[in-house]
Amino acid sequence: MRRLLDLVLVILLAAAGTATAAPLVVKLSHVVAENTPKGQAALKFKELAEKKLPGKVEVQVFPNSQLFGDGKEMEALLLGDVQVIAPSLSKFDRYTKKLQVFDLPFLFENIEAVDRFQQGKAGRDLLDAMRSKGIKGLAYWHNGMKQLSSDKPQLRVPEDVKGLKLRIQSSKVLDAQMRALGGIPQVMAFSEVYQALQTGVVDGTENTDSNIYTQKMHEVQKYLTVTDHGYIGYVVVVNKKFWDGLPPDIRTTLEGAMKDATSYGNHIARQENDTALEAIRKSGKTQIITLTPQEKLAWKKVLIPVHAQMADKIGKDLIQSIYKATGFDPTKL
Ligand code: LMR
Repeated sequence: MRRLLDLVLVILLAAAGTATAAPLVVKLSHVVAENTPKGQAALKFKELAEKKLPGKVEVQVFPNSQLFGDGKEMEALLLGDVQVIAPSLSKFDRYTKKLQVFDLPFLFENIEAVDRFQQGKAGRDLLDAMRSKGIKGLAYWHNGMKQLSSDKPQLRVPEDVKGLKLRIQSSKVLDAQMRALGGIPQVMAFSEVYQALQTGVVDGTENTDSNIYTQKMHEVQKYLTVTDHGYIGYVVVVNKKFWDGLPPDIRTTLEGAMKDATSYGNHIARQENDTALEAIRKSGKTQIITLTPQEKLAWKKVLIPVHAQMADKIGKDLIQSIYKATGFDPTKL
């Protein structure tokens, strides 16, 4: 009997030794749909991380504000309730003013110009801007250029915006931008925008074609003006303490997966937005307004002064470094 018990004990110990440890769960939360540049990059990160670290890491992706929406996700990251988030560059006001530089209207001609800045030293340094707050930036993800939408009137000249209530993200630059146009900015979480547009709580908004289409905003807005007046992109951020505490081999592999997911997402971003604009056009639910170069110039003249107005808040040097990287000259319109 004694020998039998010993044998059972040996078998149990052996089984315990070979039992695999539970995988490390990494929760990635975001606020947009899956079929957007950010949604796709997030899924690619999951695919690559789990392929490179089979059984060791499980990435759970929560789209559409399912886990945390705007306003809550940064707090959740700092509390360790979520491990990876990718808020838009406009949403870091409480942690750094510098990232709002990306909100300056007409600062970037297109996402290639954004890339030129982000890949340079000044751009890469900005990923570290929140280090003292315990937040580490891992990568920049693109969405695309912003358009203006409205229910009435259609927006062809800047004066058309006068008196309109417009939803914005929580950025002082976007507030100044809408006020420069004579609009009344209303900060609102992304998950609430569709309903606010539908019920007339706001008259219009700005966003990328991809976000407008996947949230069905075009179904409740009569007009979409292709202004390309600004940029929406993201910083993928992690809780620094959590990230630095990972076993080095796991951390390095996850960083590799993030790098590849970033290339993938940034590569498809423009196409995703072009496809969304075509789908909006095909739906026939909203009229798409294309501006002539002369009309676009009128928007630039009203909005570019916002750069100087916000320079003290954001940092003159930072703005200058972007002018230098992209070749943009605000005095030459
Ligand atoms: C917004 O309008 O709030 C968007 O930037 C959301 C997003 O993450 O693209």
